[in-house]
Amino acid sequence: MKFACGAKIIGVGAGLPVSIVTNDDLTQLVDTSDEWIKTRTGIRERRIVRENETATGLAILAAQDALAFAGIAGDTIELIIVATSTPDNLYPSTACQVQGAIGAPRAAAFDMEAACTGIVYALSVGQQFIGSGTYKRVLVIGVDIHSRFLNWEDRNTCILFGDGAGAFVLEGTDIEDNELLGTYLRADGNGGNLLWIPNTGSNYPHKGAEEIKPVDRFLQMNGRAIYEFAVNAVPEAVRHACGLAGVEVKDIDYMVPHQANIRIIKAAADRLGLKSEQLVTNVDEMGNTSAASIPLALWQAIKRGNIRTPSTICLVGFGGGLTWGSAVVRWTAVDQRPQEKVETEAEKTENAATESSAVANDEKSDSIKKDSAAEKTAEIAR
Ligand code: UT7
Repeated sequence: MKFACGAKIIGVGAGLPVSIVTNDDLTQLVDTSDEWIKTRTGIRERRIVRENETATGLAILAAQDALAFAGIAGDTIELIIVATSTPDNLYPSTACQVQGAIGAPRAAAFDMEAACTGIVYALSVGQQFIGSGTYKRVLVIGVDIHSRFLNWEDRNTCILFGDGAGAFVLEGTDIEDNELLGTYLRADGNGGNLLWIPNTGSNYPHKGAEEIKPVDRFLQMNGRAIYEFAVNAVPEAVRHACGLAGVEVKDIDYMVPHQANIRIIKAAADRLGLKSEQLVTNVDEMGNTSAASIPLALWQAIKRGNIRTPSTICLVGFGGGLTWGSAVVRWTAVDQRPQEKVETEAEKTENAATESSAVANDEKSDSIKKDSAAEKTAEIAR
């Protein structure tokens, strides 16, 4: 598709819960082991929201971090798109709440839902608004707190997910300087029941709350089927996005896939002929953070100095819907903050979490039990 204007990403940011829940912590809740989880998924730990943390709160943190990275003020943003499947409320939208909190009075704001592929969809929608010349600066956020929709007695699902938010700032450019090179989006509604959260939304009161047990409202998944879908969908999406972007897969420096399972990521990379050093992953530390996972993985890799600038990056997502999609990006963005270490809000929460992970094991598992995972089992029991 021909655009009147180009678009580039000028900022990336993160918003993370404070509490870390390790695989060992989960052995107190379900019949599992650190070894099983690490071997089958690559996950070591994940962040889980405490009672007082919300999807909106994490989205605001990610937005502020991305704006600081880009070196711009909130009042220059003209559109905010939040991709989420787990908003705090049906409305007002998460995007409207972010708009108010970051001081972006001129910005239009709306949420959209494409499960774990949401951030790729949102990037593509943002690109259309910039490409048509409607807006110059668009803030795109992916946020999910699946922990509130998990059955903490189901070892097939509760070990996989983490909570978090990630954000990108998009800016219009001359068409020659376009850096969002190509996006490719797909969906298959016939696979919707392979990964879903039933009895939520307007279906819940309609059926009568008393007939529905809390456990009927938790995420349900056919893990094997999603696994097979993903290892095919990722290479397909990458190849198509590369075709639309006018680059070859061999021109890709890094792939930033949705962080669901390291085995899926490696199997898809093998099919594409990508080497392990080209894979940007943090599934070991974050688990599957759904719509947030792609920006969170890229944010962390940049923070750790693992991304060359400039470079060509392929972002690729897959998930419920079913949905899948990919974006090829020429990455040139550089953190505008003074590099003699200003601690951002996102880093503060990350450092606080790291510090809390450094405390003695007993103390940590006590606080985690109190603050997160066991809280969920208590909720279920109620
Ligand atoms: O955003 C997209 C979200 N979802 C995904 O990406 C999920 C994609 N699928 C997967 O990642 C994998 O299918 C899983 C990690 C969910 C499961 O791995 P798997 O290698 O496909 O295992 P499985 O479901 O075939 O189960 C193998 C065994 C079973 O026991 P039996 O029947 O062989 O005795 C399970 O009951 O492992 C058992 N099992 C567990 N054992 C210990 C399942 N979950 C656990 C667990 N701990 N947490």
